[in-house]
Amino acid sequence: MIIETERLILRPFTENDAADVYEYLKEPAVNCFACMKLDPVEEAKEEMKKRVSETEYYFAITLKDSGKVIGEIDAYPETGELHTDENYVRDTFSPCWMLNADYQGKGYAFEAAHPFFDYLFSKKGARRIYTYVEDYNRSSQHLCEKLGMRREGLFLEFVSFVNNPDGTPRYENTYQYAILKKEWR
Ligand SMILES: CC(C)(COP(=O)(O)OP(=O)(O)OC[C@H]1O[C@@H](n2cnc3c(N)ncnc32)[C@H](O)[C@@H]1OP(=O)(O)O)[C@@H](O)C(=O)NCCC(=O)NCCS
Repeated sequence: MIIETERLILRPFTENDAADVYEYLKEPAVNCFACMKLDPVEEAKEEMKKRVSETEYYFAITLKDSGKVIGEIDAYPETGELHTDENYVRDTFSPCWMLNADYQGKGYAFEAAHPFFDYLFSKKGARRIYTYVEDYNRSSQHLCEKLGMRREGLFLEFVSFVNNPDGTPRYENTYQYAILKKEWR
Protein backbone atom coordinates (compact mmCIF):
# COMPACT_ATOMS: atom_id res chain seq x y z
CA MET A 1 0.00 0.00 0.00
CA ILE A 2 1.23 3.49 -0.86
CA ILE A 3 -0.24 6.75 0.40
CA GLU A 4 0.67 9.89 -1.52
CA THR A 5 0.31 13.48 -0.30
CA GLU A 6 1.47 16.82 -1.66
CA ARG A 7 5.05 16.44 -0.32
CA LEU A 8 5.23 12.85 0.95
CA ILE A 9 4.99 9.23 0.00
CA LEU A 10 4.11 6.73 2.73
CA ARG A 11 5.26 3.30 1.70
CA PRO A 12 6.46 -0.01 3.19
CA PHE A 13 10.08 -0.11 4.36
CA THR A 14 12.81 -1.60 2.18
CA GLU A 15 16.23 -2.99 3.12
CA ASN A 16 17.79 0.16 1.64
CA ASP A 17 16.20 2.36 4.33
CA ALA A 18 18.60 1.37 7.14
CA ALA A 19 20.84 4.47 6.99
CA ASP A 20 17.90 6.91 7.05
CA VAL A 21 16.16 5.04 9.89
CA TYR A 22 19.43 4.85 11.83
CA GLU A 23 19.57 8.69 11.77
CA TYR A 24 16.50 8.95 14.00
CA LEU A 25 16.58 5.63 15.89
CA LYS A 26 20.21 5.61 17.00
CA GLU A 27 18.94 7.80 19.83
CA PRO A 28 15.13 7.66 20.09
CA ALA A 29 13.77 11.11 20.94
CA VAL A 30 11.29 9.99 23.60
CA ASN A 31 11.36 7.43 26.42
CA CYS A 32 8.39 5.50 25.06
CA PHE A 33 10.52 4.52 22.03
CA ALA A 34 13.63 3.65 24.06
CA CYS A 35 13.19 -0.04 23.23
CA MET A 36 13.29 0.81 19.50
CA LYS A 37 16.88 2.08 19.67
CA LEU A 38 18.96 0.78 16.74
CA ASP A 39 22.69 1.21 17.27
CA PRO A 40 25.02 0.41 15.55
CA VAL A 41 23.73 0.77 11.99
CA GLU A 42 23.95 -3.04 11.55
CA GLU A 43 20.99 -3.29 13.93
CA ALA A 44 19.05 -0.96 11.63
CA LYS A 45 19.90 -3.21 8.68
CA GLU A 46 18.59 -6.27 10.54
CA GLU A 47 15.46 -4.37 11.57
CA MET A 48 14.74 -3.38 7.94
CA LYS A 49 14.82 -7.06 6.95
CA LYS A 50 12.00 -7.65 9.45
CA ARG A 51 10.01 -4.62 8.35
CA VAL A 52 9.92 -5.39 4.60
CA SER A 53 7.05 -7.83 5.03
CA GLU A 54 4.93 -5.15 6.77
CA THR A 55 2.92 -3.79 3.87
CA GLU A 56 -0.42 -2.83 5.45
CA TYR A 57 0.15 -1.18 8.81
CA TYR A 58 3.75 0.06 9.01
CA PHE A 59 4.84 2.92 6.76
CA ALA A 60 8.05 4.78 6.05
CA ILE A 61 7.37 8.51 5.69
CA THR A 62 9.46 9.60 2.71
CA LEU A 63 10.02 12.91 0.94
CA LYS A 64 8.51 12.84 -2.51
CA ASP A 65 11.30 14.89 -4.09
CA SER A 66 14.36 13.04 -2.70
CA GLY A 67 13.00 9.70 -1.52
CA LYS A 68 14.60 10.18 1.92
CA VAL A 69 12.95 8.37 4.82
CA ILE A 70 12.23 11.10 7.39
CA GLY A 71 10.13 9.11 9.84
CA GLU A 72 7.56 6.41 10.34
CA ILE A 73 3.96 5.78 11.28
CA ASP A 74 2.22 2.54 12.17
CA ALA A 75 -0.86 1.11 13.83
CA TYR A 76 -2.18 -2.43 14.07
CA PRO A 77 -5.73 -3.73 14.52
CA GLU A 78 -6.62 -4.47 18.14
CA THR A 79 -9.70 -5.77 19.87
CA GLY A 80 -9.88 -2.96 22.44
CA GLU A 81 -8.85 -3.32 26.05
CA LEU A 82 -11.89 -5.11 27.44
CA HIS A 83 -11.78 -7.94 24.94
CA THR A 84 -9.06 -10.50 25.35
CA ASP A 85 -11.00 -12.91 23.13
CA GLU A 86 -8.83 -13.30 20.03
CA ASN A 87 -11.93 -13.73 17.86
CA TYR A 88 -13.42 -10.35 18.80
CA VAL A 89 -13.54 -7.78 16.01
CA ARG A 90 -10.27 -5.85 15.63
CA ASP A 91 -11.56 -2.37 14.94
CA THR A 92 -9.32 -0.35 17.26
CA PHE A 93 -5.93 1.11 16.30
CA SER A 94 -3.23 2.90 18.29
CA PRO A 95 -0.82 4.75 16.02
CA CYS A 96 2.83 5.51 16.76
CA TRP A 97 4.52 8.36 14.91
CA MET A 98 8.05 9.61 14.81
CA LEU A 99 10.00 12.04 12.65
CA ASN A 100 13.73 12.63 12.27
CA ALA A 101 14.32 15.78 14.39
CA ASP A 102 15.69 17.63 11.33
CA TYR A 103 12.27 17.34 9.66
CA GLN A 104 9.99 18.33 12.55
CA GLY A 105 8.15 21.65 12.63
CA LYS A 106 7.45 21.54 8.89
CA GLY A 107 3.98 20.02 8.95
CA TYR A 108 5.14 16.60 7.74
CA ALA A 109 3.72 14.68 10.73
CA PHE A 110 0.22 16.02 10.18
CA GLU A 111 0.55 15.55 6.41
CA ALA A 112 1.36 11.86 7.04
CA ALA A 113 -1.00 11.17 9.95
CA HIS A 114 -4.14 12.66 8.39
CA PRO A 115 -4.23 10.37 5.32
CA PHE A 116 -3.07 7.47 7.50
CA PHE A 117 -6.17 7.98 9.70
CA ASP A 118 -8.29 8.22 6.54
CA TYR A 119 -6.78 4.93 5.36
CA LEU A 120 -7.49 3.20 8.72
CA PHE A 121 -11.08 4.49 8.85
CA SER A 122 -11.99 3.96 5.20
CA LYS A 123 -9.96 0.88 4.21
CA LYS A 124 -8.94 -1.03 7.33
CA GLY A 125 -12.16 -1.11 9.33
CA ALA A 126 -11.14 1.27 12.11
CA ARG A 127 -13.96 2.25 14.46
CA ARG A 128 -11.77 3.92 17.08
CA ILE A 129 -8.22 5.29 16.97
CA TYR A 130 -6.50 6.11 20.24
CA THR A 131 -3.03 7.02 21.34
CA TYR A 132 -1.05 7.46 24.54
CA VAL A 133 1.08 10.59 24.88
CA GLU A 134 3.29 11.57 27.81
CA ASP A 135 2.28 14.75 29.64
CA TYR A 136 5.50 16.56 28.61
CA ASN A 137 5.25 15.68 24.90
CA ARG A 138 3.61 18.87 23.65
CA SER A 139 4.41 18.24 19.94
CA SER A 140 2.62 14.92 19.95
CA GLN A 141 -0.32 16.32 21.93
CA HIS A 142 -0.55 19.16 19.42
CA LEU A 143 -0.60 16.67 16.56
CA CYS A 144 -3.42 14.69 18.24
CA GLU A 145 -5.42 17.89 18.68
CA LYS A 146 -4.89 18.95 15.04
CA LEU A 147 -6.18 15.54 14.00
CA GLY A 148 -9.34 16.19 15.99
CA MET A 149 -8.63 13.64 18.72
CA ARG A 150 -10.24 14.17 22.12
CA ARG A 151 -8.12 14.18 25.26
CA GLU A 152 -9.88 11.44 27.21
CA GLY A 153 -7.89 11.32 30.39
CA LEU A 154 -4.61 11.55 32.23
CA PHE A 155 -3.18 8.40 33.78
CA LEU A 156 -0.79 9.26 36.60
CA GLU A 157 2.41 7.21 36.82
CA PHE A 158 0.93 4.99 34.11
CA VAL A 159 3.99 3.29 32.68
CA SER A 160 7.77 3.15 32.92
CA PHE A 161 10.12 2.92 29.93
CA VAL A 162 13.41 3.86 31.57
CA ASN A 163 14.93 3.78 35.04
CA ASN A 164 15.97 6.64 37.27
CA PRO A 165 19.71 7.01 37.99
CA ASP A 166 19.17 5.00 41.22
CA GLY A 167 17.75 2.06 39.23
CA THR A 168 14.11 2.52 40.23
CA PRO A 169 11.47 2.71 37.45
CA ARG A 170 10.76 6.21 36.18
CA TYR A 171 6.99 6.40 35.79
CA GLU A 172 5.39 8.64 33.18
CA ASN A 173 2.10 10.55 33.40
CA THR A 174 0.26 9.70 30.19
CA TYR A 175 -2.66 11.28 28.35
CA GLN A 176 -5.00 9.19 26.26
CA TYR A 177 -6.37 10.77 23.08
CA ALA A 178 -8.98 9.18 20.81
CA ILE A 179 -11.26 9.71 17.85
CA LEU A 180 -14.15 7.62 16.54
CA LYS A 181 -14.92 6.99 12.91
CA LYS A 182 -18.18 8.91 13.30
CA GLU A 183 -16.19 11.93 14.55
CA TRP A 184 -13.70 11.87 11.66
CA ARG A 185 -14.20 14.59 9.10
C1 LIG B 1 5.29 14.13 17.45
C2 LIG B 1 5.95 14.58 16.14
C3 LIG B 1 5.80 13.48 15.11
C4 LIG B 1 5.25 15.87 15.65
O1 LIG B 1 5.95 16.37 14.54
P1 LIG B 1 5.77 17.92 14.07
O2 LIG B 1 6.69 18.14 12.95
O3 LIG B 1 5.92 18.76 15.28
O4 LIG B 1 4.26 18.00 13.67
P2 LIG B 1 3.45 18.76 12.50
O5 LIG B 1 3.54 18.04 11.22
O6 LIG B 1 2.08 18.88 13.06
O7 LIG B 1 4.10 20.17 12.29
C5 LIG B 1 4.20 21.10 13.33
C6 LIG B 1 4.38 22.51 12.82
O8 LIG B 1 5.09 22.60 11.61
C7 LIG B 1 4.84 23.94 11.09
N1 LIG B 1 4.95 23.99 9.62
C8 LIG B 1 6.03 24.45 8.98
N2 LIG B 1 5.85 24.35 7.65
C9 LIG B 1 4.63 23.81 7.44
C10 LIG B 1 3.90 23.47 6.26
N3 LIG B 1 4.40 23.65 5.03
N4 LIG B 1 2.67 22.93 6.40
C11 LIG B 1 2.15 22.74 7.64
N5 LIG B 1 2.79 23.06 8.79
C12 LIG B 1 4.04 23.59 8.68
C13 LIG B 1 3.49 24.36 11.57
O9 LIG B 1 3.70 25.54 12.30
C14 LIG B 1 3.08 23.22 12.47
O10 LIG B 1 2.55 23.72 13.68
P3 LIG B 1 1.01 24.24 13.77
O11 LIG B 1 0.16 23.04 13.65
O12 LIG B 1 0.94 24.87 15.11
O13 LIG B 1 0.76 25.18 12.65
C15 LIG B 1 7.45 14.89 16.35
O14 LIG B 1 7.59 15.88 17.33
C16 LIG B 1 8.28 13.68 16.76
O15 LIG B 1 8.66 12.87 15.94
N6 LIG B 1 8.58 13.58 18.07
C17 LIG B 1 9.40 12.49 18.57
C18 LIG B 1 8.64 11.18 18.59
C19 LIG B 1 7.36 11.27 19.41
O16 LIG B 1 7.28 12.01 20.36
N7 LIG B 1 6.36 10.46 19.01
C20 LIG B 1 5.08 10.41 19.68
C21 LIG B 1 5.15 9.63 20.93
S1 LIG B 1 3.61 9.72 21.79
